[in-house]
Amino acid sequence: MTGYIRNTDMLLGVMGDPIAQSKSPLMHTAALKALGIPGAYVPLHIAPGQLGEAVQAIRTLGFRGVNVTIPHKIAVMDYLDKLDASAVAGGAVNTIVNDNGVLTGYNTDGIGYVRSLKAEAVPDLSGAHILVLGAGGAARGIISALLQENPASVVIANRTADKAQELAASWQAAGIVTGAAMENIAGMIPDADIVINTTSVGMFPYPNDTPVASGLFRKGQVVSDLIYNPLRTRLLEEGLQAGCTIHGGLGMFIYQGAYALEYWTGEAAPVDIMRQTLLEAFG
Ligand code: ATR
Repeated sequence: MTGYIRNTDMLLGVMGDPIAQSKSPLMHTAALKALGIPGAYVPLHIAPGQLGEAVQAIRTLGFRGVNVTIPHKIAVMDYLDKLDASAVAGGAVNTIVNDNGVLTGYNTDGIGYVRSLKAEAVPDLSGAHILVLGAGGAARGIISALLQENPASVVIANRTADKAQELAASWQAAGIVTGAAMENIAGMIPDADIVINTTSVGMFPYPNDTPVASGLFRKGQVVSDLIYNPLRTRLLEEGLQAGCTIHGGLGMFIYQGAYALEYWTGEAAPVDIMRQTLLEAFG
């Protein structure tokens, strides 16, 4: 990555509201240390009304880059100089790179998810039949990235069926994405090679909830959940009991950060150290 003149420590951070709960500073601080790069990655508490000034401050203060999290991922797009194709396709930005004052927005959530899925569960996604639960921002990002891997089909099942149809229609050119109602998933699960939960159902503090009724999974399927708190959701637990390969959300968090770090530093991210640091933090 060009544009970063290392005449100062590398300044990095994450902008969000709230931000105290974010594990990104912990993960990236460990990564910078492992790479031997002098620098700091700090939490930046930015209220919605301050976003424009905060983005300008990236240039003024000479930050090499920042991550962007809730609630700024969409609004921040208005303040950037350029948008990478990943940000356009995902409809949101989670990573900003500052090249001598020129700010480019990327979305590493989708590609981070896919890199994690391939590294940890399914090396080759081509020809796969994929069922995605949920039709929000997270689903959009990961489906954009999944479509680069030549799956055979992607079915989006959502509580509000209209939203699933609408999201599916945004990839009309791909011809393989369809929308459906969540209430009909019992009939769709047998046809899926991979089932991916992008909804918040099963997340702390409701770990007993699951978006899929018990007994529907079969051996050989892959069950993936974007949730990483808890690390093993009830959905994953039931998948495991049915003989499925399971894939939790921690990998997506690690690899979205890995891509961001690679854009900022030009060096391969120390993913094992990042994972170890998070696992210790989650105790
Ligand atoms: P994110 O950016 O995390 O995707 P979002 O854009 O608010 O968040 O989308 C949340 C998704 O989770 C939606 O698909 C939502 O379904 P609706 O479109 O019907 O609202 C889904 N979701 C959230 N809570 C749910 C629940 N209790 N049952 C089923 N789906 C739920």
